[in-house]
Amino acid sequence: MNPDNKTFTMLKSIAIKAAKKAYSPYSKFKVGAAVIDRTGQVYAGCNVENASYGLTQCAERNAIGAAITGGSQAGSLLTLVIYTPGDRVLPPCGACRQVMHELMANESRVISCCDNDEFKSWAQDEYLPDAFQTRNGN
Ligand code: THU
Repeated sequence: MNPDNKTFTMLKSIAIKAAKKAYSPYSKFKVGAAVIDRTGQVYAGCNVENASYGLTQCAERNAIGAAITGGSQAGSLLTLVIYTPGDRVLPPCGACRQVMHELMANESRVISCCDNDEFKSWAQDEYLPDAFQTRNGN
């Protein structure tokens, strides 16, 4: 289910704040993410790069990791907002889609936004149809 306007605006502003903390000396691209769970708790993440490029952690996965670390139950994450700088909405990478699909609620939405008012929202089976999973539900 899509969030109401107020929740979306709140998550977008937290994602923008998180993006400012990104460690991205290689790409110089600062991504932020904010996720809200069923209890209303919000967690943020930014991308953290590494000289060994493949070790880079995306903002989305760091936000989800923060939520799980903070006590959110797997399957209780309702909305994840991803902010990327610029005037184009950019969708999440494939690795993040796999992680989001496993840990977010079945009815959750992932929403990408940027520096203007454009956004794009996906349901689970829109961003990753036929997901790899070895167990059903959480
Ligand atoms: N990045 C994210 O944080 N999320 C995505 O969904 C795609 C890419 C980061 C990884 C890297 O630090 C930078 O953006 C450029 O690819």
